[in-house]
Amino acid sequence: MCDRQSIRNKSNGCASVVAKVHLRKVNAANLPQCLQLKVKLEQQSLVAPVAKSLAEAYVNPNLYPMAIYDVAACGYEEPEIPVIGFTMYEIFTGVGFILRLMIDRQYQGQGYGKATTIEVIRRLKLYPEVEMIATSHLKGNERAASLYRGLGFKVWEIDWALSHPTEVYLKLEDSK
Ligand SMILES: CC(C)(COP(=O)(O)OP(=O)(O)OC[C@H]1O[C@@H](n2cnc3c(N)ncnc32)[C@H](O)[C@@H]1OP(=O)(O)O)[C@@H](O)C(=O)NCCC(=O)NCCS
Repeated sequence: MCDRQSIRNKSNGCASVVAKVHLRKVNAANLPQCLQLKVKLEQQSLVAPVAKSLAEAYVNPNLYPMAIYDVAACGYEEPEIPVIGFTMYEIFTGVGFILRLMIDRQYQGQGYGKATTIEVIRRLKLYPEVEMIATSHLKGNERAASLYRGLGFKVWEIDWALSHPTEVYLKLEDSK
């Protein structure tokens, strides 16, 4: 097996020096780590617990729950590095929607949230049925607002979203 550095330096589309995260389906091996992920105390009201997201995905085939790793995990069946976050997207009614995103408190502020969002957008663009990419965050979640707006998300001007009492809905301007 190649060492981590050679995998990191490969330009085969799996990992490159630009990529920062590796997304992998939540599975029996990484489930315990996913369930241990924690945001900061003051962030707990901003995102649903991983267990709730996984329960939703169990009954909804349109949901895709994913474990987030540093890109150095790519190519390893059993990565020795930890799961650093969790994301879940939904493909429904022509919209690829980033429903959940959380980076464990000890890995925040290192670019992983942004890299994950870029990777999820890349994945969503691969589905022919995805005509638009959108997301939402709670009003007052300035970190999420700054992250999404920095990547080109703008207010989604659709009536049910505009009138939502607690969420801000955003759509990616250049979704295709
Ligand atoms: C929001 C979250 C996913 C961001 O992940 P992260 O890895 O900490 O963020 P990154 O280091 O990739 O930074 C991405 C962007 O977030 C914003 N950001 C990061 N730290 C910030 C801070 N302290 N204050 C304000 N904005 C901040 C910036 O816009 C940054 O982009 P930039 O580096 O180009 O300026 C993470 O903080 C988190 O899990 N928060 C709790 C759960 C949550 O709010 N999820 C979003 C639900 S919609």
